[in-house]
Amino acid sequence: MSSGLEDVVAAETVLSDVDGEAGRLIIRGHPLEALAGHWTFEQTVHLLFGGFFDDLPDPERLAATLGQARVEAFDRARPLLPLLADLPVYDAMRTAIAPMPDGVTLDDALRLIAAPAVLIPALLRQSAGQDPIAPDPSCGHADDVVRMLGRDKGGAALDAYLVTVSDHGLNASTFAARVVASTQAGLTSAVLAGLGALKGPLHGGAPGPVIEMLDGIAAEGDAHAWIDRTLNHGDRLMGFGHRIYRVRDPRADALKAALHTLDRVGGRLEFAEQVERVALVALRQRKQSRVIETNVEFYTALLLEAVGFPKESFTGVFAMGRVAGWIAHAREQALTGRLIRPKSVYLEEGRARAA
Ligand code: CMC
Repeated sequence: MSSGLEDVVAAETVLSDVDGEAGRLIIRGHPLEALAGHWTFEQTVHLLFGGFFDDLPDPERLAATLGQARVEAFDRARPLLPLLADLPVYDAMRTAIAPMPDGVTLDDALRLIAAPAVLIPALLRQSAGQDPIAPDPSCGHADDVVRMLGRDKGGAALDAYLVTVSDHGLNASTFAARVVASTQAGLTSAVLAGLGALKGPLHGGAPGPVIEMLDGIAAEGDAHAWIDRTLNHGDRLMGFGHRIYRVRDPRADALKAALHTLDRVGGRLEFAEQVERVALVALRQRKQSRVIETNVEFYTALLLEAVGFPKESFTGVFAMGRVAGWIAHAREQALTGRLIRPKSVYLEEGRARAA
């Protein structure tokens, strides 16, 4: 048995390759550096969806249809919003997605991509006591999300972020989505599985706690003391470490580059870089058997904060981008894979587990 399925190959995919030794992410033949900051999210969706939907139009038409899907998502969400007011933002988004049609067409796929993009800003505005802002289908996807949040800047940085997190090999949420799709269930079921797996702090739930760490250190004024105390307590530093990468996560650098396109991040970025340096030294000293480097979530936290998202929405914004990868993987699994059904080892009562 391989604990955590480490090093187990469980799928063949044309979608992305995570090279953990070289610190490289390839999305359908393109290195991440060639996509983030250069391609729009809509173009990346087109790239991921190629070959998985018979009626996939050209990228411009796809962007227009996605704009229309945002308008429909808003109309569907509006009456639901007051019913979701007491739930945390992520859970409210998941609840609003659950009753959506569970088909496998391009329309189903675009509806599922539009949903988090519309729901997260609307839910955030509702919790701040503000009216939701309707989408503008003529805007780019990321620009429209920023508009619906009530901001007028940060669309390009958010676009780079959504592209950066759109797909990433067989991560936990993508695997969960593929397991569901392997039963021939529909795309909403696969996306709900992905949303469930993404929520945890070992996967997509880390960036909120990164802000709490930075704020805790800023209040205390001593990064060494804060980090030592956390590690002595046996807790993990959020935004560091990865199952596959043994060098720096290339997504962290893509996001750092996107951060430089935003105004007024200089001081916060400098402070975060100081904390990052102290954390890496402390982790190297304590965990000599494992290379622990900065992962995507560290700079995600800074970027989403600078665009104007509150920390409780960060995992939902991650889902806004990753939903494209989940859907492409779900289609690939359903079209080319078999039912995923591994085995377990039965431990009779009292029998020790293998080390
Ligand atoms: N802080 C402190 N110790 C750590 C950390 C960390 N961030 N990451 C790993 N370790 C230690 C861990 O305690 C363990 O030590 P020991 O062997 O002494 O018990 C050892 O390293 C191996 O940990 P593991 O959980 O078996 O290793 P993994 O490869 O499954 O870890 C990880 C991957 C992401 C779960 C882990 O690094 C972690 O918990 N990081 C903090 C949470 C975080 O940043 N999550 C976002 C992940 S990136 C987004 C994505 O792609 O999903």
